[in-house]
Amino acid sequence: MSNHSHRKIGVLALLGGAVLFSSYAFSPVPEQGTPQHENNLKVLPKDISHTELMQVMHSFEIALGYSCEDCHARSATDPNKLDFASEDNPKKGEALEMMKMVQKINEHSFEVKGDFKDNYLKSQYKVSCITCHNGHAEPAHTISIPIPDPRWEKK
Ligand code: HEC
Ligand code: HEC
Repeated sequence: MSNHSHRKIGVLALLGGAVLFSSYAFSPVPEQGTPQHENNLKVLPKDISHTELMQVMHSFEIALGYSCEDCHARSATDPNKLDFASEDNPKKGEALEMMKMVQKINEHSFEVKGDFKDNYLKSQYKVSCITCHNGHAEPAHTISIPIPDPRWEKK
């Protein structure tokens, strides 16, 4: 291998490190030292890795145009922190119901069966949060083009 391609690999490795570091730096880390399975997860697997949990959570933010605090309640002891396991924010409950709905729609109408987390993160679902929400909390439900008059069809 030439010196040139060695340098290229070195730069790529550096870039990769920077991307990893920055995404790590921006994801709030739950309490250190707590085993991952001590959580209040209902649809996601109890033993989900921190990386996968954050992938799901960040994707929810993008799908709805939300931030963490739009779904998660503030901590009762420290209002500067979020209590992620808490069920006090009704939006979290709605999101949980939506996760179950997504699982059902895909199973019943599109033959995509099995675990939510795997299907969701591998983009196996035909209908996902982004399909309806498209970056908004409230999906559009009005028809914005003129509806054709059925009498036109008869001719
Ligand atoms: C659209 C709503 C929504 C948004 C936005 C959201 N979350 Fe969540 N989060 C949930 C739901 C719902 C659960 C529970 C999932 C389950 O039970 O399977 C959850 C669970 C969690 C958990 C596990 C809590 C436990 O039981 O121990 C953590 C940690 C978490 N979220 C962090 C975040 C972070 C950090 C952000 C922002 C980057 C975020 N969430 C954004 C809805 C959301
Ligand atoms: C089939 C379409 C559809 C899909 C898929 C869908 N949603 Fe929704 N969602 C809706 C509709 C419609 C509403 C508004 C309901 C209303 O107005 O009462 C809504 C409302 C919500 C709300 C409450 C928003 C608010 O401000 O009141 C949350 C949170 C939410 N969805 C999260 C999710 C998440 C997370 C996913 C993916 C796991 C998801 N949704 C997938 C259609 C969908």
